[in-house]
Amino acid sequence: MYDLMARPAPHQPQWTDDPDYPAVRGVLAAAPPLVSAAELWTLRARLARVAAGQDVVLQAGDCVETFSDCTPPAVAAKLATLDDLGARLSRRTGAPVVRVGRLGGQFAKPRSRPAEPYNGRDLPTFRGPMINSTLATEAARRPDPRRMLRAYAAADEVTTLVGAHRDTPGGPWTSHEALVLDYEESLARTDPETGAAYLASTHLPWIGERTRHPDGAHVALLAAVANPVACKVGPSAAVEDVLRVCDLLDPDRVPGRLVLIARMGRRHIGAVLPGVVNAVRRAGHPVVWLSDPMHGNTVRTSTGLKTRLLVDVVAEATAFRDILLREGVHPGGLHLEVAAGDVTECVGGPVPDEAGLRLRYTSLCDPRLNPRQAGALIDAWC
Ligand code: PEP
Ligand code: CO
Repeated sequence: MYDLMARPAPHQPQWTDDPDYPAVRGVLAAAPPLVSAAELWTLRARLARVAAGQDVVLQAGDCVETFSDCTPPAVAAKLATLDDLGARLSRRTGAPVVRVGRLGGQFAKPRSRPAEPYNGRDLPTFRGPMINSTLATEAARRPDPRRMLRAYAAADEVTTLVGAHRDTPGGPWTSHEALVLDYEESLARTDPETGAAYLASTHLPWIGERTRHPDGAHVALLAAVANPVACKVGPSAAVEDVLRVCDLLDPDRVPGRLVLIARMGRRHIGAVLPGVVNAVRRAGHPVVWLSDPMHGNTVRTSTGLKTRLLVDVVAEATAFRDILLREGVHPGGLHLEVAAGDVTECVGGPVPDEAGLRLRYTSLCDPRLNPRQAGALIDAWC
């Protein structure tokens, strides 16, 4: 449809040889849309208010969702956390908060390493439940296209639960990284009212740091759809590349269309972000700027466990705010990895040191803040 296969497409599972692959794509292509175009226009209008400096965004959730966490009680707990943190952000800023969950499709991960050591041998890495299993066997780690159908069914349940909640004051929107092109492209639909193409998999798809190349397939896909879209911007981002991505994703310079998510790391943000924000502003793109203070601040403990220090996260988020204000641009909000429960995955606040991480570390991918840590971050940011 979008000639994506002619473009570089990193981080794609190799599963096209699977005998069920064509049938899986066919089932997804015929499946009901998970979100409607009308919802996308509403979200774009909400984000336009953020771009204009009136409102703020809280985008938060797990690094990766699991299928077993898509039950009504688990989703209710996530929505309650997002709502509480959103209310806190609203109280502290005095502005309405657009709540966006990392849920209803956050089932696939780009990984820095294709394999990981396990019991003295190398095992392919877990790449999210849309692609393979967490079980530590060679067979379980093989990419399985049938998992896209389970992902769709789980996303359908979550999106329905989120939809039932949307007209309440704390109603949220769904978002996930649009990583697996087979899934996203199969769920592209046309709005019968306007004729616009859109991704029916989620309200706000985003492009990750590893797939944001301006000539790549992921940018081409999001350029071709009418959803509000987001793109991560990391410390190695060249200003020209960010401007090309902005031109491709927001050629008409429409407020509410494009969200940029800075994820630099506390040590790099001061040197890199001001130039990028300034260039985007001068190019006339009315983007929403969010801070993801998590992904540039991942460290390993002495035992090799991935963690993040709350002091680093707070330092990056507050540096982001100060840089944006200096550039005369509205700091549009926060993009966080937060668990609904009282996990111990990041150090700080109620988790005083590395030893405390062992208690309740349940993330299958990156370490999340617990709600108390996230609350402390919000207080420091406002
Ligand atoms: C993520 O948001 O989980 C992620 C992988 O982020 P990034 O692309 O910024 O590394
Ligand atoms: Co993550």
